[in-house]
Amino acid sequence: MSIEIRNISKQFGDFRALRDVSLDVDSGELVALLGPSGCGKTTLLRIIAGLETADTGSILFSGEDTTDVHVRERQVGFVFQHYALFRHMTVFENVAFGLRVKPRKERPSDAQIKAKVTDLLKLVQLDWLADRYPSQLSGGQRQRIALARALAVEPKVLLLDEPFGALDAKVRKELRRWLRRLHDELHVTSIFVTHDQEEALEVADRVVVINKGQIEQVGSPQEVWDQPASPFVYGFLGDVNLFHGRADNGAVQLQGMRLESPEHSGARDAKARAYVRPHDIDVTPYASGASGIVATLSRAIVVGPIARLELEPTDSNPDNPGSGTIIEAQLPAQQFRDLGLKEGDTVVANPRKARVFVEEDWVSP
Ligand SMILES: Nc1ncnc2c1ncn2[C@@H]1O[C@H](COP(=O)(O)OP(=O)(O)OP(=O)(O)O)[C@@H](O)[C@H]1O
Ligand SMILES: [Mg+2]
Repeated sequence: MSIEIRNISKQFGDFRALRDVSLDVDSGELVALLGPSGCGKTTLLRIIAGLETADTGSILFSGEDTTDVHVRERQVGFVFQHYALFRHMTVFENVAFGLRVKPRKERPSDAQIKAKVTDLLKLVQLDWLADRYPSQLSGGQRQRIALARALAVEPKVLLLDEPFGALDAKVRKELRRWLRRLHDELHVTSIFVTHDQEEALEVADRVVVINKGQIEQVGSPQEVWDQPASPFVYGFLGDVNLFHGRADNGAVQLQGMRLESPEHSGARDAKARAYVRPHDIDVTPYASGASGIVATLSRAIVVGPIARLELEPTDSNPDNPGSGTIIEAQLPAQQFRDLGLKEGDTVVANPRKARVFVEEDWVSP
């Protein structure tokens, strides 16, 4: 079932939680809503589910307006961050719950319920836990049971609100791979809320980046990573260095270095920001006359295949905002060893690749 979100706005008192949000989710797609705490992810999910009403706008399921369709009739499965399993029921009964409370005419027989629940528990690979109680499960197992319970009523839409948020990093990672495989098997149209960039990029077909109640960018994981549409998206997805400077005539002057910037050939002495990923910065030992940012290698963390470096620019200039901030660089550990650098050395840093935004790009209405 496809979902169309049309011009949804929602206000709590004076606070605008969602501002004119529109988005199409294709049938069978897995979309991640990604954004910082308080940006409106849960509010949007609750409006889609029918647990909350929007001030303006509408939600369409397969082209039909759901405004007057009750939560119970929307055929939506829900999984929340904090597993809400019924404590006094076994795993089996938790998963069976949605089927047992159906109106008599639609309710499957006991034998059908048993078969269905057994299938679902196999699907989430926990059939051996059927007789346990929630308190006897690990957090990750509980989330998988919560998902099995949501799937029991064969929802047309699955809404997942930080389902793995309360779990530790390793379990989260396992579960998100598992969720992706499960989705590939079932193809239920799913919206997955997270504020973890890695999780969104790894799991979703498309990522929707939200900031302050507005969509900043929609795209495939690769698109939002490679071509961030705004400074916000750049900063939110992954580590990034920010340099301040001025753009003029197709070039940007930043903290003692010059970058070509043909996309801003029209800019005339405009304020500019350049975003550079740590692995797009070249680091070489200082040699007199070298061009680039002269800095002290203040810290080098070499764990595994990557060397993560912190560089402190030596010529910080109080008139130049940001010129005193630490630059993060990353290079292969072997390359770092070959350079023969150690903490305290003077180095030269040169961005290989930068994304430049001039002032008008980042002034939002
Ligand atoms: N019932 C409510 N009454 C008043 N304000 C609310 C209500 N629900 C949400 N808000 C506010 O709306 C904003 C968006 O909340 P929402 O729960 O959608 O954020 P979120 O993106 O899910 O954040 P998180 O990642 O922390 O879960 C927040 O500033 C929140 O305080
Ligand atoms: Mg939330």
